Amino acid sequence: MSDDGRRNPGAMGDAMGPVLVIIPTYDEADSLEMIVSRVRSSVAEAHILVVDDNSPDGTGKIADELASTDTHAHVLHREGKEGLGTAYLAGFRWGIEHGYEVLVEMDADGSHQPEELPRLLGALPGADLVLGSRWVPGGSVVNWPASRKFLSRGGSLYSRLLLGVPIRDVTGGYRAFRRETLLGLGLDAVASQGYCFQVDLAWRSVTSGFRVTEVPITFVERERGDSKMSRAIVAEALWRVTAWGISSRLKRLAGVRR
Ligand code: GDD
Ligand code: MN
Repeated sequence: MSDDGRRNPGAMGDAMGPVLVIIPTYDEADSLEMIVSRVRSSVAEAHILVVDDNSPDGTGKIADELASTDTHAHVLHREGKEGLGTAYLAGFRWGIEHGYEVLVEMDADGSHQPEELPRLLGALPGADLVLGSRWVPGGSVVNWPASRKFLSRGGSLYSRLLLGVPIRDVTGGYRAFRRETLLGLGLDAVASQGYCFQVDLAWRSVTSGFRVTEVPITFVERERGDSKMSRAIVAEALWRVTAWGISSRLKRLAGVRR
């Protein structure tokens, strides 16, 4: 591991501070090398942190190999599959400790195109959190079955109605946070383990008064490997969003914010 990116930030880094792209992985051996090289080509000065949950398919070993030949690549190994939300929390902590100013969330499977990262980073000077959005004009989804589109749009709509967040794509996972935003969100109190982590952080950002901007992205369904979306993940999202919605209404009635 090296920290040269923090001592010698590149062009983009000079404007905004060093950038860390966090990529959680579980069984992404067929995609990892491709995604790391695309990030490196797209934003040369960015660093990458792979957070691997001891993937049975050896993704962690591939990540170690990439890190051993590229000073911009780093790896955080966890003992077992603990969920996307906690993987990002671990990655954010690592990035904050290591002095990164911009922390990006990105899937390993190519759904979040690294070529669109400059668009997210480009919106950050005027925002505290930039969301890559499938559901704003110019955004889209390629190759998703109708069932996934329904789940995503339904999840976004339900969250917007219940929580009152003015965000079109509240469940998306392609995002750029400023370090200060993450420090202001109270990450120690985040309990979301699965994909509802995304709703959780978007909502915290809005209620904390941070400027949240959506930029259009084209989400491309993975060609290799499998989605880790499961019934348990949907169930956690449903009960947590419902509980947040009810408790925020009760607090509002009692005159307290969130
Ligand atoms: N370390 C770790 N641990 N990584 C995980 C885990 C886990 O428990 N679960 C999933 N991942 C990684 C995957 O390996 C992948 O890199 C990324 O997280 C996203 O997982 P996918 O399984 O590909 O997610 P998806 O395509 O179904 O869902 C995407 O869209 C959702 C919104 O509709 C993601 O971007 C979600 O974050 C997003 O909420
Ligand atoms: Mn995916």
